[in-house]
Amino acid sequence: MEVNMKGIILAGGSGTRLYPCTISVSKQLLPIYDKPLIYYPLSMLMLARIREILIITTPQDIDNYKKLLGDGSRIGVHFEYAIQENPRGLADAFIVGEKFIGNDSVCLVLGDNVFYGATMSDILEQAKRSIKDGGASIFGCLMKNPQDFGVVEFDDHRNVISIEEKPKKPKSNYAVPGLYFYDNQVVEIAKNVKPSARGEIEISSVNEAYLKRGQLHVTLMTRGVTWFDTGSPKGMHKASGFVKTLQEMQGFYLSCIEEIAWRKHFIDDVQLRKCGEELKQTDYGKYLLSLLNNEEE
Ligand code: DAU
Repeated sequence: MEVNMKGIILAGGSGTRLYPCTISVSKQLLPIYDKPLIYYPLSMLMLARIREILIITTPQDIDNYKKLLGDGSRIGVHFEYAIQENPRGLADAFIVGEKFIGNDSVCLVLGDNVFYGATMSDILEQAKRSIKDGGASIFGCLMKNPQDFGVVEFDDHRNVISIEEKPKKPKSNYAVPGLYFYDNQVVEIAKNVKPSARGEIEISSVNEAYLKRGQLHVTLMTRGVTWFDTGSPKGMHKASGFVKTLQEMQGFYLSCIEEIAWRKHFIDDVQLRKCGEELKQTDYGKYLLSLLNNEEE
């Protein structure tokens, strides 16, 4: 049976590492090459066929997100919006989002994480299925700078034995990306997380709680998946370059939310044409219209 799963995009925070760019604009609205950063994490939820989505952001940015994304009907999904008054930590998403989550499971994606991989749909659907009887499902990605992230430690049999947030001496090179699947226990777990030394309620503490309960699945993402954390100007530039190169070489767009909506049958040809017409002065709009003429792809 399908798990009823909701999605949350956490798109708040102060973005200070990107000042002056983010003094007046939320980081997740800045472009990664040809589309707003938030389209990339949003597309992950859509690939997982999650259509009820809460966008959490700051009091000053919420209207801009509403202007960009509306109620979601244009792409066959339903958006709700909530405010996080202060950046208290990632686990706060489940406290702010408690009412929205209700009795369902939830997938949290960080508004500044960019993923790409040909098998992404399968990976996401698999993670969703893996918690149908409860628990949590997260990922591990091989990184050269694991100390900047949550880090997974394994024993000799590849069983996960610890999760540490930004450890000075990482016990492996596997960093945990900002994409997490949880059953409904997450709301209670988040409420009981104690603030860390940096004063935040950490997502790694939530993952540790599931680990202690013997309910944490960790899937290692293989070489075929690329993950960018776009927290710095260099990170944003790297991700933009990657998107540009791939789009120009392959002709396919990455994280094009209207295309995903259409391929997943959230919208039909008529709706896709409307989306394309609205943007037809741009290459992006022309691309949407071209999809209707190349249906065999
Ligand atoms: O990117 C993956 C990493 O994200 C994980 O490996 C770490 O375990 C996790 O703690 C997180 O680390 P970061 O240091 O990258 O998190 P950061 O504070 O940059 O926040 C990530 C995004 O979430 C960012 O776009 C801002 C937003 N945010 C952050 C906080 C703390 C909020 O919207 N609200 C918050 O309270």
